[in-house]
Amino acid sequence: MSVQFAGIGTEVVVGSRSAERAADTVKELHETWPGRNLPLVPGDNDTAAAADLVIVATPWEGILTTVSALRKTLADKVVVSMANALTRWGKDMVPLLPPTGSITVAVARALPESRVVGAFHHLPAGPWADLDHPLDADVMVCSDDRSAAREMIALIDQLPGLRGIDAGGLASALAIEALTPALLEVNRRYKTHAALRLTGLDPSGQQ
Ligand SMILES: NC(=O)c1ccc[n+]([C@@H]2O[C@H](COP(=O)([O-])OP(=O)(O)OC[C@H]3O[C@@H](n4cnc5c(N)ncnc54)[C@H](OP(=O)(O)O)[C@@H]3O)[C@@H](O)[C@H]2O)c1
Repeated sequence: MSVQFAGIGTEVVVGSRSAERAADTVKELHETWPGRNLPLVPGDNDTAAAADLVIVATPWEGILTTVSALRKTLADKVVVSMANALTRWGKDMVPLLPPTGSITVAVARALPESRVVGAFHHLPAGPWADLDHPLDADVMVCSDDRSAAREMIALIDQLPGLRGIDAGGLASALAIEALTPALLEVNRRYKTHAALRLTGLDPSGQQ
C-alpha cells in the first residue's frame, strides 16, 4: 500500500516495530521500482504515527497493542484500519468475530480521540502492490466521523484504478471485514485476484 500512495507523490513513512526492518522494506521497494523516485521514508511505528494520516497495516492480532501504545500521538488524526480478522478452518478461510463485532470498531474504542476509518479491506495484496498495472476496484469506506470518511474517499479517488465508496458508519465494518475471507475463497477457487466493483452508482461514486 505504501507504494500506491508514494506512486501519486505522497510522502509515506513506512513504519515497523524495528526501524532497521523499515529501512530494509523501503530499500526493497526502491529496488523493485527503480527510477520512480518514490517518496518513501523508513521509520519506527512512533515516527509513522506522527504522520498527518495513519494507515495501520498490521495483522489483526497485533493491531490493538500497536495502536494503544500510540494513542496520544494518534489523537485528532484520521487513523485507517484495514485489518480483517480471519482464520483457516480446514481448507477454508473464515471470518472471526471480535467481541466488538469488527476490528475497526475495536480500533475506534482503543483510540477515542482519533478519527477512525475502515478502508482497503478487500484489495488483493499482490496486484495492489503492482504500480505498472493498477487495480480496478472499489474501496468501501466506513466511519462514524463523516468528514474523515469524505477525506479518505477523496484520497482513494486519487489512487489509479480505485474508487472510494461511502459505506456508512462503523457499524458497516463487521460486514465489510467478514466479506474478505469469502473473497479469498473466490480467488482460491478461480485461481485469480478478484476485487470488488459495485454497480448502480454514479461513476464518480457521488450520490
Ligand atoms: N497486504 C494487503 O495489501 C492487504 C489488503 C487488504 C487488507 N489487508 C489486511 O491488512 C492486514 C495486514 O496485512 P498484511 O498482509 O500487510 O500483513 P503482514 O504483512 O503479515 O504484516 C504487516 C506488518 O505488520 C507487522 N506485524 C506483524 N505482526 C505484528 C504484531 N503481532 N504486532 C504488531 N505488528 C505486527 C510486521 O512489521 P514489523 O515486524 O516490521 O513491525 C509486518 O511486516 C491484514 O489483516 C490483512 O487482511 C492487507
